[in-house]
Amino acid sequence: MGSIHEWKPELYDDKLGFVSQYGKGILEILNVQQGERILDLGCGTGDLSYEISQLGASVTGMDLSEEMMGRARRKYPDIKFMSGNAENFSLDEPVNAVFSNAALHWIKNAENVVSCVWNALEEGGRFVAEFGGKGNIEMIVKSITDVLAQDYGIDANELNPWYFPSIGVYSQLLEQQGFRVTYAVHFDRPTQLEDGENGLAHWLNGLAADVFFKGFTESDKKSVFEKIAATARKSLFDGTTWNADYKRIRVVAIK
Ligand code: BEZ
Repeated sequence: MGSIHEWKPELYDDKLGFVSQYGKGILEILNVQQGERILDLGCGTGDLSYEISQLGASVTGMDLSEEMMGRARRKYPDIKFMSGNAENFSLDEPVNAVFSNAALHWIKNAENVVSCVWNALEEGGRFVAEFGGKGNIEMIVKSITDVLAQDYGIDANELNPWYFPSIGVYSQLLEQQGFRVTYAVHFDRPTQLEDGENGLAHWLNGLAADVFFKGFTESDKKSVFEKIAATARKSLFDGTTWNADYKRIRVVAIK
């Protein structure tokens, strides 16, 4: 995953467990075959790498975050996990498939990612990925942007680390690399955030705090999260639960 974010692996597992839960859909599309060699790119704390290994493949998990890799190794000592940057990596041996869930939206340089994935695959190998697509968390981003501009004079657009392409743009990128895109969809996935009233604050704290709110004290953060929640409330809070406005793309591409 991206370098600018300091991952908190415990929070990732406890409060953001839906990330791997939702990943099971793209895992079905991966359609693992016994004995395949598979790279799980941006594997986080390794839950889906483990699922892939349980399906009979030899899996390597890769993530940029040392914290995530440490937790993944402790959870799944039999799986190989290596630190690596999705936009600049190479493998000793080509793999049958590169899989990625909820990671590639952290990397703006998608061209480099696609090129590394291409080089990591054997001829006929497949790239199977799911990540945030065009319009993903649009209301959350707008609320962050509005509050930071109005109350702090900060331009959030300059800080925004996320890459949410349309399937048209992403398919073209894959085709330019030489891939044959056999599947591409873009769909809404409203995502319930845990912890009722505090759900959005937890999400912001876990996934956006060190991107947009660097240097904010704990009390500043509490205050800015409340302002963002007030801005987004009408669109995303149903009276009980925050529903993040996730939009996903899924792609399958063959080398
Ligand atoms: C997502 O999974 O869509 C996402 C996660 C963190 C930041 C932005 C988007």
